[in-house]
Amino acid sequence: SDGPLRDTFGRVARDLRVSVTDRCNLRCTYCMPAEGLDWMPGDSVLTTGEFIRVLTVAVRDLGIERIRFTGGEPLLRRDLEEIIAAVAGLPSRPEIAMTTNGLGLTRRIDGLVAAGLQRINISLDTVDRERFAEITRRDRLDDVLAGLAAAKRAGLDPVKVNAVVPDRADLGALPDLLAYCLDHGYELRIIEQMPLDADHAWQRARMVTADEILATLRTRFTLLPDPAPRGSAPAATWVVDGHRTPRGPARVGVIASVTRPFCGDCDRTRLTADGSLRNCLFATSESDVRTVLRTLPDEEIDAAIAAIWRGDMWRKAAGHEVNADGYRQPDRPMSAIGG
Ligand code: GTP
Ligand code: 5AD
Ligand code: SF4
Repeated sequence: SDGPLRDTFGRVARDLRVSVTDRCNLRCTYCMPAEGLDWMPGDSVLTTGEFIRVLTVAVRDLGIERIRFTGGEPLLRRDLEEIIAAVAGLPSRPEIAMTTNGLGLTRRIDGLVAAGLQRINISLDTVDRERFAEITRRDRLDDVLAGLAAAKRAGLDPVKVNAVVPDRADLGALPDLLAYCLDHGYELRIIEQMPLDADHAWQRARMVTADEILATLRTRFTLLPDPAPRGSAPAATWVVDGHRTPRGPARVGVIASVTRPFCGDCDRTRLTADGSLRNCLFATSESDVRTVLRTLPDEEIDAAIAAIWRGDMWRKAAGHEVNADGYRQPDRPMSAIGG
């Protein structure tokens, strides 16, 4: 039947996160080991045409209104502009966003915006060069800062910064990071670390909590309740007293996936680079669309993708495995799901 996709909790899927590659050119300690991971074999990763086909069905037939490209690092795909342009050209054009580490963005940003990219979130955990190099295992802070500046110059609005706090010792540097973001007009969101690292080293007691993050920010800033509705967004936001952007009051967000899970309002579904649909970051099962793309006769593919999405996927109980202590790690690490 038609109509919006409702899961067994009554939630409607309007947002699709698309991981276009599991590879990355950084090696953040909370994400990957120094040597990288066993990357997906090239022939298992969806091609340009396959991505465009699935996304066309998602937008045209399944009510997806927002698409976010992620990775690994999505800029490692040379065809990202082509995929974005195809999605932006669909009759009911979705909102198009990207989450990236920012490396090489200065050279790509104009093409991405011309293709249809509207919003960008860039990962940046610290503005301290030495600490950045330790966390990411690459000395590339300047490239990320240049990428941020380029995104703003190109007119993307908002430009958001995603910061993970790898260690309690990093708390003290958060006010500097917020000051940097306020000075440059970026919206900072600080993220509780989730147990999705490839090393399985995450420990609840070592994780820096939203309460600690907020208390630390309040040593230097006054945070006021944000009157704007939160909707389905992962980030809870505060207005930073005395700071403004051209659009209005400056904000800071905290994404408290662990201490304040937001699964009840979630409207996200995910597509992995090798063509599996996941109804939750922590889903323990997936639905394979790659096989449909590669084995069915051309005229049957769209209907088969829609059927998988509607039936198989949304009849399963989604999410809700996220709580303070009861995590079960999914089979894939974060970098192969897309965050
Ligand atoms: P906005 O639309 O700008 O709010 O983007 P976003 O925050 O949804 O996406 P982004 O890729 O910037 O992700 C920021 C953090 O939120 C990452 O750590 C994601 O893993 C996390 N995140 C996004 N969606 C979910 C979700 O459904 N559940 C959980 N637990 N975390 C999520
Ligand atoms: N927990 C929470 N966020 C994470 N990210 C990477 N690994 C984790 C984790 N274990 C963040 C990245 C990026 C976003 C997609 O997810 O820093 O900003
Ligand atoms: Fe790459 Fe993002 Fe993982 Fe860092 S967190 S290694 S930028 S995929």
